[in-house]
Amino acid sequence: MSTQTLTKLPAILDPTKMPQHIAAIMDGNGRWAKQQGLPRIAGHQQGAKTVKSLLRCCKDWGIANFTVYAFSTENWRRPAAEVDFLMKLFEGLLDSELAKLHEEGVRVRFLGDRSQVPIGLQRMMDKSISTTEHNRAVTFNIAINYGGRHEILQACKSIATLIRAGELDPQSIDESVFTQYLDTTGLPDPDLLIRTSGEQRLSNFLLWQLAYTELYITNTHWPDFSNDEFTQAIADYQQRDRRFGKV
Ligand code: FPP
Repeated sequence: MSTQTLTKLPAILDPTKMPQHIAAIMDGNGRWAKQQGLPRIAGHQQGAKTVKSLLRCCKDWGIANFTVYAFSTENWRRPAAEVDFLMKLFEGLLDSELAKLHEEGVRVRFLGDRSQVPIGLQRMMDKSISTTEHNRAVTFNIAINYGGRHEILQACKSIATLIRAGELDPQSIDESVFTQYLDTTGLPDPDLLIRTSGEQRLSNFLLWQLAYTELYITNTHWPDFSNDEFTQAIADYQQRDRRFGKV
């Protein structure tokens, strides 16, 4: 992440109505690369630049939480070479950016089942968490081997185990108890979900947490998703009337 100039809050945004948590489904890296006549991996590399730029905006504009869907439980079905490239890209980015992220006060967290990711990446994930755990400028959540259904099932298993051990009363389980067993424990639900590249679906992302989230879907491919369009997405969000089921 860049340590240079502060990204000023754009004048069209209302500082009193900023979202506290933005999540993103970063789609279209492959299509962007194809358009440019480049291999798919070049799209992922360029996509990483978008992530850095938006993380900078989040920090400078007071958006406390930013969550990105980097690799889903379904993405293992991609060609082995692309999976391998992505795992190495994540590991390399964490390795090269960690000191700067820490210096900037970014807390890094991960969502998803890490037991299946390569050991080198697991180690970098652990190091990133422990290095940045006390930072609070912005929390950056990276979903790797993440699936919403898997996360909910894991929570159910943890809860069932506690009930069987006599440590939890089933009657005491409400939404706030349940969310303690999700990977996102302690985070507010996303206010805004951005999905690039036009697809209008959730693709197993944050199924519990997105219940009342506002959606911003754009045809722009992730590598082309600029700070200006990020601003537009937030401006759009600020116009929405969030009723949470009320009239
Ligand atoms: C989806 O586009 C993108 C991914 C599965 C990988 C996302 C990874 C990055 C943006 C790299 C940087 C990540 C971090 C955490 C810094 P796609 O490949 O499905 O595109 P397509 O639908 O056009 O083929």
